[in-house]
Amino acid sequence: MKSKYYIGIDLGTSAVKLLLVDGDGKVVRTESREYPLIFPHPGWSEQNPCEWWNGVKSGLSALINGIDASLIEGIGCGGQMHGLVVLDENDNVIRPAILWNDGRTYAEVDYLNGEIGKEKLSALTANIAFAGFTAPKILWVKKNEPENFARIAKIMLPKDYINYLLTGVHCCDYSDASGMLTLDVEHKCWSAEMLEICGVTEEQMPALYESSDVVGEILPKVAAELGLPNGIKVVGGAGDNAAAAVGTGIVGEGGCNISLGTSGTVFISSEKFGVDPNNALHAFAHADGGYHLMGCMLSAASCNKWLCEDILGTSDYAGEQKDITDADLGNNRVYFLPYLMGERSPINDTNARGTFTGMTMDTTRKDMVLAVLEGVAFAIRDSVEVAKSLGIKIDRSKICGGGAKSPLWRKIMANVLNIPLDIPQTEEGPGYGGAMLAMVGCGKYPTVIDAAAALTAVSATVEPDPEIAARYETKYHIFKKIYPTMKNLFSDMKEETK
Ligand code: XUL
Repeated sequence: MKSKYYIGIDLGTSAVKLLLVDGDGKVVRTESREYPLIFPHPGWSEQNPCEWWNGVKSGLSALINGIDASLIEGIGCGGQMHGLVVLDENDNVIRPAILWNDGRTYAEVDYLNGEIGKEKLSALTANIAFAGFTAPKILWVKKNEPENFARIAKIMLPKDYINYLLTGVHCCDYSDASGMLTLDVEHKCWSAEMLEICGVTEEQMPALYESSDVVGEILPKVAAELGLPNGIKVVGGAGDNAAAAVGTGIVGEGGCNISLGTSGTVFISSEKFGVDPNNALHAFAHADGGYHLMGCMLSAASCNKWLCEDILGTSDYAGEQKDITDADLGNNRVYFLPYLMGERSPINDTNARGTFTGMTMDTTRKDMVLAVLEGVAFAIRDSVEVAKSLGIKIDRSKICGGGAKSPLWRKIMANVLNIPLDIPQTEEGPGYGGAMLAMVGCGKYPTVIDAAAALTAVSATVEPDPEIAARYETKYHIFKKIYPTMKNLFSDMKEETK
């Protein structure tokens, strides 16, 4: 019998990546389509949902070109989280999507955390407000664009827009819905009180599903347009971090996955619901039916991209790193705060900014490049330290995402965290997780945990080196003092640009 195929979609911030995976879990083909990020104002970040759909359509057509499409059983999507997508009653996109790394909603965040109160928010949703979350964006549109707000018929997240166009079903899975700040995460239902606070009704919200639930089948007219057969099943999918955790095998109790993508995340999976009492880490549902805690930094691999492409004018990232040796690691006197889009975890400060410090006349280009890689690793450690302070044991982690393709960056991460880092055999985190969710939805595996046991393996482990790790320990304690020293200054700078 011929093997079936499953399609995984990773709807990212810089591109959509599509994977064709066979029934044995082998990635047969990949396609990727880039799209622009729009920064209409410093600290704002938007994208046009039509760009996502065009990328998905063109990628899908290329992905299935020349294969027997009748063997495709299911599609699963992992998507950038928190982005506000709003449609009118005729399904027109009302305004560009406001993305997860957009910092415009500081006033709404102050209102939610201050006037509604962190305790109440945490009781209702297991989380407090962060600028990138969806609820503050709904309030921002309500206040600043009342004519747009009045037209909203449907609210959804980025990957749900793709699922909607594929199936006609207005749906969302629990992992992604957790990041809206309108979900009662523990009980997996919309919080009526939060919807009221945002001025929206449950009719405007998507129907909720588990990530591996089949939400519908691909619409005949879409199937015809893309050259796909009728009957392909589409599953609920997941937020990209939950999908990446599935794709790297971080399901069930107690595993950790670090993702070095545009954002940087520390994802700790758990069978049971739990909340960080200080809400520095997000408490969300997982795509395996359980839960997770997560720290998210807003600029991770994007800091290196920014330095190389925008400042140094090169896309040869490996070339910039090639002269950095073990002797350099932990001996750099330059420090970098990676807050190019403000920061979420754990400091929750939209005013925070990127900063180099410690330069002297003999500072080189190499030192600056290294400082950026190290600054991101130190900021990831900030979230790991919060998890440890809650009594969570993190003695090793998986690592995935574009930044994790750099052997140097992986080594820096392993030494800054002083833990072994496992590199998954299939590096396509969210897309692979999406395909695995589709396999479960189509009955190939009974549960997401079974799929992970069968399909995720480790290809290599990066061990920390005691000498380098000791040098980084000292450096980390200096790094930790930079942000508190700058905090008030960042806020003064913000006043200046208002
Ligand atoms: C998670 C978050 C980011 C985006 C990136 O809370 O905001 O990781 O999901 O796509």
